Amino acid sequence: MNIILMGPPGAGKGTQAKNLVKKYGLTQISSGDLFRAAIAEENSYGVIANYFIKHGHLVPDDFTIQMMRERLAKKDWENGFILDGFPRTIIQARELESICREFGFQIDAIINLECDFENLKKRLAGRRTCKQCGTTYHVLFNPSKVAGVCDKCGGELYQRTDESEEAVAIRLNTYLHQTRPLIGYYTAKGSLININGDQSMEDVFEDIEKSLEVR
Ligand code: AP5
Ligand code: MG
Repeated sequence: MNIILMGPPGAGKGTQAKNLVKKYGLTQISSGDLFRAAIAEENSYGVIANYFIKHGHLVPDDFTIQMMRERLAKKDWENGFILDGFPRTIIQARELESICREFGFQIDAIINLECDFENLKKRLAGRRTCKQCGTTYHVLFNPSKVAGVCDKCGGELYQRTDESEEAVAIRLNTYLHQTRPLIGYYTAKGSLININGDQSMEDVFEDIEKSLEVR
C-alpha cells in the first residue's frame, strides 16, 4: 500500500506517518526530513534547501522532484511507502504521476488532514523534536516524561529553525497559495480522503485506519 499524506504545516503528517509505519510496516518518506538530513550533511541539496526552509518558503520544484525521484528509485520498502509532505504543488503532483509510471508503482490512497489554522500555530509553537531519533513531542499535547529529553532514546529535544512565529506565518501562507490547490486537483480525480485533523492524535489515526479499511 502506497499512501500520500497531505495537510498544512503542523497538521500531524509526521505523527500519523509514524502510526502508519507501526501498524502497516510502511516506509515513511518525508521530503522535509530528507531536506533536514541533507542540511545536516551539508550536501548539495542541503545548501540550497537551507535558505528556503529557514524562511518558510518551499524548496524549488525541480530540486525537490530530483531529490524525491532519487529517493523513490531506491525501491527499498517491503510493504509500501507513505509520502509525507510530497507532492506540495501541482507540478510536483504531475511529476509524481510520471515517476510512478516510470518506476511501475501506484498510489493507493491520498489522505488529507484538515486543520484549523489557529490550532496549527499552537502545535508548531509547542513541537519539540529529538535530535537523535526524530521522535516528535509537544510541550502540552504530547510532552516527554523529562523536559528536553527524548523518552525513547534519551536524545536532546530541539525546536526546528522554521518554527519561529515569522517563519510559521510564511509557511501557512505558502500552504494556502501553493499546496491547498492540490485538494481540488485530487478531488477532481476522485481520490482524496479528507480526515478531520483537529481531533486527538488517537482519533485522527482511528479515522485514517477506517478510511483505509473500506478501500
Ligand atoms: P516539513 O518537514 O514537511 O514540514 P511541514 O509540512 O511544514 O509540516 P510539519 O512537519 O511542520 O508538521 P506535520 O504535519 O508533520 O505535523 P507533526 O506531526 O510534526 O517541511 C519543512 C520544509 O521543507 C517546508 O516548509 C519546505 O520549505 C520544505 N519542503 C518539504 N517538502 C517540500 C516539498 N514537497 N516541496 C518544496 N519544499 C518542501 O505535528 C506537529 C505538532 O503537533 C507536534 O508537536 C505533534 O506532537 C502535535 N500534534 C500532532 N497531531 C496532533 C493532534 N491530533 N493533537 C494535538 N497535537 C498534535
Ligand atoms: Mg512533519
